[in-house]
This record gives sequence, C-alpha cells and structure tokens, in this order.
Amino acid sequence: MTNIPSNPYFAAVAEQWDEIRSGYFTEHMRDAAIAKANLPANAVVADVGTGTGFVARGLVERASQVIGFDASPDMLAVARRNLAEFNNVEFREATGNRLPVNDATFDGVFANMYLHHAPDPLATIKEMVRAMKIGGVLCITDLDTHDHEWQREQMADLWLGFERDDIRRWYAEAGLHDIDVDCAEGTCNACGPDGEVQPLSIFVAIGRK
Ligand SMILES: C[S@@+](CC[C@H](N)C(=O)[O-])C[C@H]1O[C@@H](n2cnc3c(N)ncnc32)[C@H](O)[C@@H]1O
Repeated sequence: MTNIPSNPYFAAVAEQWDEIRSGYFTEHMRDAAIAKANLPANAVVADVGTGTGFVARGLVERASQVIGFDASPDMLAVARRNLAEFNNVEFREATGNRLPVNDATFDGVFANMYLHHAPDPLATIKEMVRAMKIGGVLCITDLDTHDHEWQREQMADLWLGFERDDIRRWYAEAGLHDIDVDCAEGTCNACGPDGEVQPLSIFVAIGRK
C-alpha cells in the first residue's frame, strides 16, 4: 500500500526505535497492562500503532492470533523481523482510524503510545471499538497530560498526553462499559532536549464492549 500518509520521524528512527522505546516503556509495564485486560483463551487481538511490534511481542504467547497495524512501512519492516519466529502474528499497513478488518473481529485491541499521534483520538477509539467483538476489551496505554512542548517537534507528538476524564468520556461515547483508567506500573522516562531525564506519568485505560 502506498496511499497511507506516515510520519517521516518514524521512517528515520525505525532501526533505533527498540532502543529509544526501552527507556520509555518497559516490558514489565507492557505485561502488567496486558494482564489487566484479562484476555479470554484463544483470543484474536490487535495492536494498533504497533511500531516495531513491542506490544505484539507481549501478546503472541497469550493470544491465538495477533495483527499489528501501523502507518509506517519502515517500523513494520522491523516488526516483521523482530517477530519472524512466531507464526501467529501478522503486520498490516493501515491508519489507526481506518482498520482494514470487518466489524467485531477482535477479542482485544491494544494501543501503546499511539493515541498521542492520532489526529482525532475519539475517532480512532471508535474505530478500535468497531473492530471489537461484543465482550471484547480495549486497552490503551499512553501519557497523562504534560507540558513538554519539545516532544511535538522532536518526537512528532500531536497531543501532549491526555486528561484521564477525557479518556473515560471518549470510552463511554464509543460505547464501552466497565471503564477503568488507572496508573501504569511505571513512568515514561523521556530524555529531554538537554539530555536530562523527564519522567512522565502513564495511564492504562481498560473498557469493555
Ligand atoms: C510512539 S510509537 C509506539 C510504537 C509501539 N506501539 C511501541 O510501544 O513501541 C507510535 C507508532 O504509531 C504509528 N502511527 C502514528 N500515526 C499513526 C496513524 N495515524 N495510524 C497508524 N499508525 C500511526 C507510528 O508509525 C509509530 O510506529
């Protein structure tokens, strides 16, 4: 596919992303969020804004089928390489607000550090919910609001995090119930323009369809 606009930032950092990300989001935080989603046995799940497949990697041994979606072909190329040993995962080029799947495909949809890149967060949440089965779970992990403007320019962020009340409202508006937005098990240790570490708090938002 060639008609999906992807961000030049992610084309530039694709090969270094796993190292950059490791300072921001740990495997422990990822696995705690996945556990909170409480997936059923043999789940079919999606990882939206999968990047190099970090969350997909956490899901492959807990789900029967994993599909990772991302707008960046360069990030997806690394994801395919990273997870080449697993035969229950595939990666597709797609924008988060138009997933190329039928309604009610997934038992779980995950999105880690993707929502702050989405031009219209509510629309992308509604699209993820469209792709979920009744009873399915949405698990978004992202930044709480912060004032580090440099992240817009240096990391292509569109949103400087989110208010948890907005996330709760958007989940409800998208038709979810049993909504729980709480702290992740750790902080995002962003490295600022002067090289200093700036810890940012992260939420885990769970909701059921
Ligand atoms: C901060 S990275 C997070 C990647 C991965 N989830 C992780 O935890 O390492 C954000 C990802 O979202 C993707 N992305 C940005 N805008 C997108 C969009 N509109 N649709 C789909 N993917 C998008 C980028 O290409 C990038 O891979």
